[in-house]
Amino acid sequence: MTPLIDPFARPISYLRVSVTDRCDFRCTYCMAEHMQFLPKKDLLTLEELDRLCTTFIHLGVEKLRITGGEPLVRRDIMTFFKSISRHLETGALKELTLTTNGSQLARFAADLAALGMRRVNVSLDTLDPAKFQEITRWGRLPQVMDGIRAATAAGLRVKINTVALKGFNEDELFPLLDWCANEGHDLTFIEVMPMGEMGEEMRLDQYWPLKDLRIRLAERFTLTELAERTGGPARYVRIEETGQKIGFITPLTHNFCESCNRVRVTCTGELFMCLGQEDNADLRAPLRASSDDAPLETAIRAAIARKPKGHDFDYSRQKVKGQVSRHMSHTGG
Ligand code: GTP
Ligand code: 5AD
Ligand code: SF4
Repeated sequence: MTPLIDPFARPISYLRVSVTDRCDFRCTYCMAEHMQFLPKKDLLTLEELDRLCTTFIHLGVEKLRITGGEPLVRRDIMTFFKSISRHLETGALKELTLTTNGSQLARFAADLAALGMRRVNVSLDTLDPAKFQEITRWGRLPQVMDGIRAATAAGLRVKINTVALKGFNEDELFPLLDWCANEGHDLTFIEVMPMGEMGEEMRLDQYWPLKDLRIRLAERFTLTELAERTGGPARYVRIEETGQKIGFITPLTHNFCESCNRVRVTCTGELFMCLGQEDNADLRAPLRASSDDAPLETAIRAAIARKPKGHDFDYSRQKVKGQVSRHMSHTGG
């Protein structure tokens, strides 16, 4: 089987699959408060999701990250996880993992660990319960903290993802670092990306370039750049004083498109070749048209052959460029 290689000679070995557009939170940078969710018939069934992921694994995908919306609010999602984990047992899949808001982890962490998951990424932008409610609109911090504790107790490594937001969590840089160091969690900061219908002004108001955050860190600590990558877009530094590893995801100030190894599929089976571009390919049609996987494989290969060089996000010159109208919850980050 010829592996998936895009026009810029980048091998595609990482698939992100969104299993639902729904979420029990409404983070302001991700969703509108009153979202129109998709009708159930438009969503891929759990069986279709399995067939789709299995096909990608046959085509060389080694790392599968399940996203949403909030993946753990999808009904019967553990049936899907149990089934797809067979590829971990054969060794075809090297990593099966999850990006979650943590709200349901207390219920599912032990089962996820039992089927071979080793780590989870949990989104957490603040340690202050009132601010947590402000940013997630519907979320409750104690529930997420319970989820994170359950994940750790089950033996899952936890990486905290914090979206850096000017005027919101600038003052929490050091408290977040301390908390992660004490709890043994990795921490990654993310630049807010211009997605969804949030107005340009609001995005610019909130945009906190990570190079500024890094300068603040460097005033207090000695930072060593690390060469290691996890197969994701983050670049890492080590804080010499504490030994802590901090990740930076900087699509705006330092894009990582040249080493992109990933594509993403939405919960309706659209294959997006880039998070920051609108071009996509419908995989639901070939999935539903035939039980033969050949047309599906052909559609996947045709789409990879037009993967763009990179995204066009840009906040420079006080103007947001490259904004995509899709909500992040649609593509799963
Ligand atoms: P690991 O490195 O495996 O831990 O995963 P990850 O950082 O790729 O995954 P995660 O779901 O935690 O993503 C963190 C953030 O990175 C999210 O905000 C994503 O939207 C963003 N992100 C992930 N992949 C891409 C990408 O290809 N392009 C851009 N611009 N952002 C990405
Ligand atoms: N910009 C940057 N990160 C975002 N996320 C959601 N929306 C945005 C955005 N507009 C993050 C979430 C989660 C991950 C899947 O994507 O906080 O960590
Ligand atoms: Fe839900 Fe995550 Fe989007 Fe927040 S960022 S609304 S938790 S999908």
